[in-house]
Amino acid sequence: MNRTDNLVRPNVRALVPYSCARDEYEGKEGIFLDANESPFGPLNRYPDPRQRELRASISNLKGIAEENIFLGNGSDEVIDLCYRIFCKPGTDRAVIFPPTYGMYQVSAAVNDVGLIKVPLDENFDIDLSGVTPLLEDERIKLIFICSPNNPTGNCMDTGRIEFIIRNFRGIVVLDEAYADFSGRPSFVEKIAQYDNLIVMQTFSKALGMAAARVGMAFASPEILKYFFRMKPPYNISLLNQQAAMERLKDIRPVAVQTDTLIAERKRLAEKLEMIPLVEKVWPSDANFLLVRVKDADKVYNELIAKNIIIRNRSREVSGCLRITTGTRSENDRLLSELNNISI
Ligand SMILES: Cc1ncc(COP(=O)(O)O)c(C=O)c1O
Repeated sequence: MNRTDNLVRPNVRALVPYSCARDEYEGKEGIFLDANESPFGPLNRYPDPRQRELRASISNLKGIAEENIFLGNGSDEVIDLCYRIFCKPGTDRAVIFPPTYGMYQVSAAVNDVGLIKVPLDENFDIDLSGVTPLLEDERIKLIFICSPNNPTGNCMDTGRIEFIIRNFRGIVVLDEAYADFSGRPSFVEKIAQYDNLIVMQTFSKALGMAAARVGMAFASPEILKYFFRMKPPYNISLLNQQAAMERLKDIRPVAVQTDTLIAERKRLAEKLEMIPLVEKVWPSDANFLLVRVKDADKVYNELIAKNIIIRNRSREVSGCLRITTGTRSENDRLLSELNNISI
């Protein structure tokens, strides 16, 4: 047994996965009487359960072999699968670095997995002295690292990420949902080097396809074989596979949009800093800004009343709001409404 097999829950290791009709016969031509589908209508057939065309397109785009690519119904499905594959409910544990993306905690609770929280340090970076004593703990199966981190917006220090991957006996899940806005190299290139690394990316952010629910996981085939076994057979609909394929046909507009958003993020941050109720704007490697204001609840509610919806993160980070970068005109509306609020 290799290291991954050892980390996988015994029932998952022994699982005989459901073999669906489209797994057993992969051809596209013929009279299909095998899946109890209707013979009528444009959407009558089940989609490819392994999303081969879409994974081939992603492989082309990123220069990563198809066998290293798994697709989930959003990254949220990948997060849930990580818990279900590696963590025995009620026994095993995972580590997160709060404040961070909320689904790591919700998914842990759903799967009855205990969470160990190692708060980020004063620069919102990983506190290595807090996590190092945990790296040898046999009950800890997963460590989630979000970089760039939501809601703080910054990338974690590369050396600290790599230290954890190298020294942790379990699986590191590195969430790069916002990586396109950071200008930093992705850790995807390192999946061949580290057999305990899963890198997540998504179609929901820079690729502009949150509605389609397509999340990507990059890892060794030894890890991904369990994801293919555990997922529901048809986890990405045909419509969503097609929409994602369409998006990848010409990727040039995405680069332009990403550059536009990065420029807008800078302009928005500079303008926000000039507003009296704004106390601090943190530098961001993502498509949003973390902003501390005087009376966050009041500012949030007043913006809602003007039909401008941002995220109130003051429960997670004292006094803070999270503001997504919109179009120039959307950002201008936000700025002018903020200037009108008196505190
Ligand atoms: C850090 C992070 N990871 C993952 C997700 C979810 O991605 P998806 O839409 O692919 O489920 C989000 C959504 O906001 C996020 O902030």
